[in-house]
Amino acid sequence: MRLSVNIDHFATIREARKSREPEPVLAALLAEQAGAEGIVCHIRRDRRHIKERDLRLLRDAIKTILNIEMAATEEMKKIALDIKPDVVSLVPERPEELTTEGGLDVLANKNALEAHIRELQNAGILVSIFIDPNLEQINTSSQIKADRIEINTGKYADLPPGEEQKNALEEIRTAAEHAFELGMEVHAGHGLDYHNTEPVAAIPEISGFSIGFSIVARAAIVGIDTAVRDMIDLLII
Ligand code: PXP
Repeated sequence: MRLSVNIDHFATIREARKSREPEPVLAALLAEQAGAEGIVCHIRRDRRHIKERDLRLLRDAIKTILNIEMAATEEMKKIALDIKPDVVSLVPERPEELTTEGGLDVLANKNALEAHIRELQNAGILVSIFIDPNLEQINTSSQIKADRIEINTGKYADLPPGEEQKNALEEIRTAAEHAFELGMEVHAGHGLDYHNTEPVAAIPEISGFSIGFSIVARAAIVGIDTAVRDMIDLLII
């Protein structure tokens, strides 16, 4: 699985006017038609973009993989067990943040997360944990038997081209190799766009990418089909 398209910001546009359009489910179907192999969305506690009705409609309508990002809370677990997405991606959530700011601290929340993950897995849901490229976080994610990690590429993506960005890329590579050796599926995402994705896509251990904002931004200008196809072209190595 290479590209999963995060459709949150189609819902953000809808919510800007509390309107009925654009319909995020239609965006998801068009993204699939353009070659996306999965659809991702993030249901937040404040429901600022994606809402339960979107999850229900997406679950019914899409033909690929539905991956719902959520915090590891009781409220969200109930939603997951009700909707039964193919994948739940556990992410940290700060109410005032504009977007997810960092990876989950698996070390600090090991026991609670382990129980949370097991419940989701017992319902047939694959569980991914969004973490920073940190070997200790990866080891702990493996110990609590997460199926997948998604490496946070945010730090890399925020840096201008140069030495620091190269180092951030190497951190991602080392983390991906380590997680892969431990037998976990490795994905990556956050802040990836049409300029910075190729070097990350060249890391062979990373089998999937979750990309949202840059695709929605390009889709607003050239349409979803072209935006998704342009990104898929960059992921071919
Ligand atoms: N992965 C995770 C865990 C995220 O929280 C997000 C943002 O919702 C993304 C990937 C996609 O990030 P972006 O919208 O910057 O492509």
